[in-house]
Amino acid sequence: MTRRVSLWTTMVLLQLVGPADMNDTPRVSFTLGSPSRALTRFTSAQDGNTTTLLLSDDGDTLFVGARDAILSLDVRQASSMVLKGRLDWSPSEKDLDDCTMKGKRKTDCSNFVRVLQVLNSTHMYACGTFAFSPRCTYINSETFSLMTDPSGKQEEGRGRCPYDPYQRNTAIVVDGELYTATVADYHGNWPVISRHLSEGSRVDLKLDDMLGWVEDPTFISSTYVPSEEKVYFFFSEVGREYDFIDKLTVSRVAQVCTSDIGGQRTLQKRWTTFAKAQLLCHSDGELPYNVIEDVVTLPPAEGASADDTLFYGIFSSQWSVNSGRSAVCVFRLGDVKAVFAGNYKALNRDTLRWSSRIQEKIARPGECGLHSASDNALRFVKENFLAEENVHPVGQRLAMVSADQLYSNIAAQRVTAADGRNYTVLYLLTDSGLLHKVVLLDDGPHVVEEVRLFPEPQPVKSLLLSISKGAVFVGSAEGVLKVPVANCSFYWSCAECVLARDPFCGWDPSLHACAEISSIRANVGQDVEGGNVSKACMAPMNPSPRSTFTQQRPVNVSCLPGELVTVSLNEVVRLRCPEASRLARRHWKRPNSRLSPDLYLQQADGSLQFLATPSTLGPYLCLSEENGYEQILVAFQVKQKSNPTPMPAATPSHAYGQPTTHVWVGPRRVDIKENGKEGSMPTVTQESTSENSHKTSRKVNFTFRPNSWAETDSVNRAGGDTNQRMDTPCYLKELVVVSVLLVLCVSALLTAALYGLRQRCRSRTVPQSCSRRDPERGAAPQEREALRSQSPHATSKHNGQAHNGHAGKGTISLGNGVVNGSNGHLPNTPI
Ligand SMILES: *[C@@H]1O[C@H](CO)[C@@H](O)[C@H](O)[C@H]1NC(C)=O
Ligand SMILES: *[C@@H]1O[C@H](CO)[C@@H](O)[C@H](O)[C@H]1NC(C)=O
Ligand SMILES: *[C@@H]1O[C@H](CO)[C@@H](O)[C@H](O)[C@H]1NC(C)=O
Ligand SMILES: *[C@@H]1O[C@H](CO)[C@@H](O)[C@H](O)[C@H]1NC(C)=O
Ligand SMILES: *[C@@H]1O[C@H](CO)[C@@H](O)[C@H](O)[C@H]1NC(C)=O
Ligand SMILES: *[C@@H]1O[C@H](CO)[C@@H](O)[C@H](O)[C@H]1NC(C)=O
Ligand SMILES: *[C@@H]1O[C@H](CO)[C@@H](O)[C@H](O)[C@H]1NC(C)=O
Repeated sequence: MTRRVSLWTTMVLLQLVGPADMNDTPRVSFTLGSPSRALTRFTSAQDGNTTTLLLSDDGDTLFVGARDAILSLDVRQASSMVLKGRLDWSPSEKDLDDCTMKGKRKTDCSNFVRVLQVLNSTHMYACGTFAFSPRCTYINSETFSLMTDPSGKQEEGRGRCPYDPYQRNTAIVVDGELYTATVADYHGNWPVISRHLSEGSRVDLKLDDMLGWVEDPTFISSTYVPSEEKVYFFFSEVGREYDFIDKLTVSRVAQVCTSDIGGQRTLQKRWTTFAKAQLLCHSDGELPYNVIEDVVTLPPAEGASADDTLFYGIFSSQWSVNSGRSAVCVFRLGDVKAVFAGNYKALNRDTLRWSSRIQEKIARPGECGLHSASDNALRFVKENFLAEENVHPVGQRLAMVSADQLYSNIAAQRVTAADGRNYTVLYLLTDSGLLHKVVLLDDGPHVVEEVRLFPEPQPVKSLLLSISKGAVFVGSAEGVLKVPVANCSFYWSCAECVLARDPFCGWDPSLHACAEISSIRANVGQDVEGGNVSKACMAPMNPSPRSTFTQQRPVNVSCLPGELVTVSLNEVVRLRCPEASRLARRHWKRPNSRLSPDLYLQQADGSLQFLATPSTLGPYLCLSEENGYEQILVAFQVKQKSNPTPMPAATPSHAYGQPTTHVWVGPRRVDIKENGKEGSMPTVTQESTSENSHKTSRKVNFTFRPNSWAETDSVNRAGGDTNQRMDTPCYLKELVVVSVLLVLCVSALLTAALYGLRQRCRSRTVPQSCSRRDPERGAAPQEREALRSQSPHATSKHNGQAHNGHAGKGTISLGNGVVNGSNGHLPNTPI
């Protein structure tokens, strides 16, 4: 009783506690059909419902159980899947008529292949729903042909495959014998866990027909553990032991021994080794994720104990507080074994109620070899097959929670990183048609990327990992997809490569490219655990770590190319900043100047909006900060147009009130999701919009040169100073641009000025000479000011002026076309 009360209390308390937050935001998101994450697709108008997948042992062939057919696809090529063979396996007209006569929809009366397994070296075995009358068949692997017995009759599939294609089932072949869990009747009320095709003198086994072994289950998955000689089944069912809560769903792991041959009198032709236990997926203070959705087995690393075999499961929740959320929990074989070796609850066969009373232990349920036990012992097993203890996840906590994705399928892989450490990588399919790739780090999961696979949610799908092919296969109603596990070359710099924290990818300093670590000969730039750019992007022969521009090597704004933006005074300017990563924080900077919130609006999408006034002309940088590393994403030079069209005077105090808004979009090197909206944007676009009810008074068409930030590769190869760049590849593009510009500046200076002049140039007038490259010379005074204000005192003064200047006097006085040499008229030149 106390147990019940305490459980109830816990449940009620748990209702009040919100789920814990974990960072589940994918770092980058690839849209459907993104060229950076190329998918290979196999579709066939004829063959739909391609959801049962099986890889050949050599990994070169993918067998697909489809609707009325079994296909064989050649998957040797990285970028194609070619149909090699097709076996038609459809019900006859009569079968279909019988099926529709029983009131089933014609589309559901097809033969949906739901079991497809390698039986032995020469044959495969398949079962299908076959017009609500399940059948099975052998397939000759050599000739890829159906094998019917001499009478031409196919094997009865009852107990091996469901009748109804919407019922879930699981099957696995061990030593030529088929272990299945499915419903075995037309109405789907009779669940069985059974063995078929038993070899030699061994008999086929199933659960005893008595009630209570399993309760309205949904079968999820099965796996064979050779060290234990046991098959484990995973499913959810109604938790009868919690009969005081109406239909509480619980997740289970059940086991049977492959050596089982059934009892001699008691439990004849029935399992003697069946036992089940509850799998708990919850963390403290949270409602349990009680509904298992999928589970995958990860064998232990070489040399590790078999007890370190791990089961990665996806769980959702029965309760609405957690609706739309799912969790990943990891269970260790050692823990499962310990629970099955412990005490068992007792089932009262008359009342079908469970109790925890301690009985004299006549037998050890779940132990292999019970088939030769006494009748007394087997009767004990019939009442004691639910383990008293629950299996808790590794570390007693959730491995991952997704607040907004319902995961439906999982695959797992152990990947050895460049430093020899092994990381678990999970592939998770979502209900909404996305694939998440997650690496489990010491301090939690990191979603490396998100790839959209389907435009629409897909109800039935399957996921199969091929380690040898480096790809995951996804079977859905519409066809089969192949997704490479990674595309390292998507990451264009060492910093991006390291920040991705993808254990497959590392920076190759000799090729200046992010590549699969297996292809890199030496000095791999990678830090999966820490994502520390300064550590991983520092080549060993160059002991001083590269600083970012903003840290130790301030950007020489006068020499920055940036995107040239010419504006008329009083117009609202909006500068866009591309998003390199959804985990990065973007912010804007003006050299030596604070961006006053009165003048500047930094928007959630990363863009910066302000009114063009003399004080807001000049250079702008958009920086992104991720994991302690800062980099420049885009640079702009905002200049006044030389021939402005007359503008209506704006009200200075309503800086964002009236005027035109022009949006400038910087170069976009990535096609990632922005603010939940998807859609890749053109490299450089310029829009004229009226945002936030700003009236658009006129349309202006600007033409932009592509920002040179995006085009540094050619420069990089042509330029000198190779050694240094070789050692510091991560800032390569940025560095090259700045270096080249520095060189340009210096040479311009050298040719133009005498030594003395140059000295003066160093003290104050350098920016002027730099800006000589640019006929407009727009930003020069700004820079001069910026340079001058290198003492903190001057800086604050400067800021103050910019701030007070607002969009006020300057705007009005300059608004009416005072343009020429605007540099001399800027309000932030001390008045
Ligand atoms: C990887 O990404 C790069 C850069 O976006 C792209 O050019 C390349 O085609 C992609 N490769 C694959 C296999 O998707
Ligand atoms: C594989 O199984 C099939 C069907 O039972 C049987 O005919 C065949 O001989 C077996 N092959 C081997 C190599 O055991
Ligand atoms: C990583 O996994 C590989 C392959 O399973 C294994 O050989 C190696 O010992 C593992 N390394 C560590 C540090 O566990
Ligand atoms: C088969 O695919 C169709 C879509 O092509 C889908 O509507 C149907 O539900 C699928 N049937 C099963 C049993 O999954
Ligand atoms: C990154 O690595 C550098 C060099 O090894 C180290 O000084 C710095 O503290 C590290 N940063 C973080 C956040 O760990
Ligand atoms: C900008 O570049 C010039 C020419 O190379 C240099 O003399 C000057 O010191 C630089 N300014 C800053 C702020 O680094
Ligand atoms: C801008 O100009 C380009 C070429 O001059 C033209 O193709 C484009 O349609 C113009 N866009 C607008 C919005 O006027």
